[in-house]
Amino acid sequence: MNEENVNPSNTSDNQAFEDVLNSYMSRRALVVGGLAGAALTFFGASAASASTRTGASRGQLVAKASAKAPKIGFTSIPLQASPMPTIAKEYSYSVLAPWREKLDGSGTSFEYAGFTAEQQEVSVGIGHDGMWYFGDEKKGLLCINHEYGTTPHLMGKTVSTSLAEVKLSQTAHGMSVIAIEKAGEKWKIAKSKKNRRVHVNSLVQMSGPAATSAYLVNKAGNPFQGTLNNCANGYTPWGTYLTCEENFNGYFGALNTTWKASPEQARYGVTANGFGYDWHKFDARFDVTDGNYANEANRFGWVVEVDPNKPGSLPTKRTALGRIKHEGADVVEGKGGRVVVYMGDDERFDYVYKFVSKDNWKKMVARGISPLDEGTLYVAKFNDDGSGQWLELSPNSAPLASWTLDKILVYTRMASDLLGATKMDRPEWISTSKKTGETYVTLTNNTQRGTAGRAAVDRANPKAINRWGHIVRWKDADSHIGLTFNWEVFALASEVFDEGGQMFGSPDGIWVDPDGRVFVQTDGTQPGENNDQMLVANPETREFRRLFTGVSGCEVTGVAVTPSRKTMFVNLQHPGDGDPKISNFPARFTGASGPVPRDCTIVITNKKGNVVGV
Ligand code: FEO
Ligand code: CA
Ligand code: CA
Repeated sequence: MNEENVNPSNTSDNQAFEDVLNSYMSRRALVVGGLAGAALTFFGASAASASTRTGASRGQLVAKASAKAPKIGFTSIPLQASPMPTIAKEYSYSVLAPWREKLDGSGTSFEYAGFTAEQQEVSVGIGHDGMWYFGDEKKGLLCINHEYGTTPHLMGKTVSTSLAEVKLSQTAHGMSVIAIEKAGEKWKIAKSKKNRRVHVNSLVQMSGPAATSAYLVNKAGNPFQGTLNNCANGYTPWGTYLTCEENFNGYFGALNTTWKASPEQARYGVTANGFGYDWHKFDARFDVTDGNYANEANRFGWVVEVDPNKPGSLPTKRTALGRIKHEGADVVEGKGGRVVVYMGDDERFDYVYKFVSKDNWKKMVARGISPLDEGTLYVAKFNDDGSGQWLELSPNSAPLASWTLDKILVYTRMASDLLGATKMDRPEWISTSKKTGETYVTLTNNTQRGTAGRAAVDRANPKAINRWGHIVRWKDADSHIGLTFNWEVFALASEVFDEGGQMFGSPDGIWVDPDGRVFVQTDGTQPGENNDQMLVANPETREFRRLFTGVSGCEVTGVAVTPSRKTMFVNLQHPGDGDPKISNFPARFTGASGPVPRDCTIVITNKKGNVVGV
């Protein structure tokens, strides 16, 4: 979801660099990312490939010119604006698991007309987003997030007008666990006892330090239920899936028109009308003025662990990872076998986080303790000189000495405000290169950066009115568990060009493959008003090539691979923005009289059977 028009809620004063860098607008300063004295390198565009001309610095993070750059051999394709996707000529794609396909392996789907919550509960949800694949080259489990589906897309009307319609909307959100198998050359949904949907009314449990917090208790005494606006994802070394709750605030509203948001509600963006879903009019859980459910919104905004192999297990909200608008959760194994989880909070001027488990994850699992329940949460401060600090979100930090840990974890944004974390340009996905240990974050855009009353540019967010977004990467000290890091700007989207002009905007999904290739997916305005896309970047030369373009009105998001990486799964979210006048995908385009477009997974393979990206 590109929430370009949502007002930011971070009105804190921790604008650490605001007044420092207004004059800091030279081209070099914009791209160097804090590496004083680093030599500039020019990467010229070649006729055969779309390349960067960023003038980006070769700084300390990328000083390993001796390391072999991964091969990116496919022919970059142009941007396009059609109702159908395009893919590089060396590749082909097929469609898997469209919204409304039944989970019974029959290959059939429920009809759009008359579609019900009961049908949605046993079929693929809408709003395909982050995902991961647990399996081999022929069969396995695909976990897919279902971030959102607008009411016009879901049911062809402006707003829900009954509880039954609200239930359909709620059931379309959440995530799916889907058994898939390769039948001949094509992947399909298989019949399996593990197929299941988790949605807004599914039972869940809370775990970790805030699980029993009074901030999560309602007078109604209702059980913990549901996961919502599931954006990006993670996966753990112990074989589970992490689904991340992002814009949960938009599903709450106020029936009582005299309601005024508390500072806590305001900081998390809760408003009287939300995003217009109107759930609160039919389901009291989502009415912030119903005293019985005063803390219901605090039950959302978490990272949720799902065990795809245990269909009877409760999804578990891991409170130790904090409550923010969680974009994703990139899990790496750090020094001493401790797990480190990198996370972005996607709102203008919000923050980048990491969690470090208390101990070696294998030892914790052996003791029956989740490595995601005990550990320390940090928020990032990006200094101007290319260094950075991880600030501890606990009462050990002086500004939080009077806070309890559960309060810090429930109102993490406000705790981070007090620590002076760096306000970023909408942190989206994060991915760590297993090859170099560098961690990349997409900063999708922020058209309010540097405008009146908002945080000024700084070196980590160097573009005023940052329409096109950028990508920052850092390297943590002490194999991911250290309290300091070095960082640089990897790419400013406005300065990456192909033969047709600028190459992309609004970077969102990102995944670094084991060879170091950087897959970048977009969500938002593209150069020339073209379709969203997936690119592959060389981590050393910063050359970008375009592998895939989506359909009009869609977002390209989510990336998973089979173990050989010869099959890649990517999602098309809200093709045609749900409007058949714009796209009927996955059906061929016939226009308004054609079928309503369906969110779906795209299966990408190289025609010669190579690793995807080569
Ligand atoms: Fe759901 Fe921040 O994208
Ligand atoms: Ca986005
Ligand atoms: Ca996203």
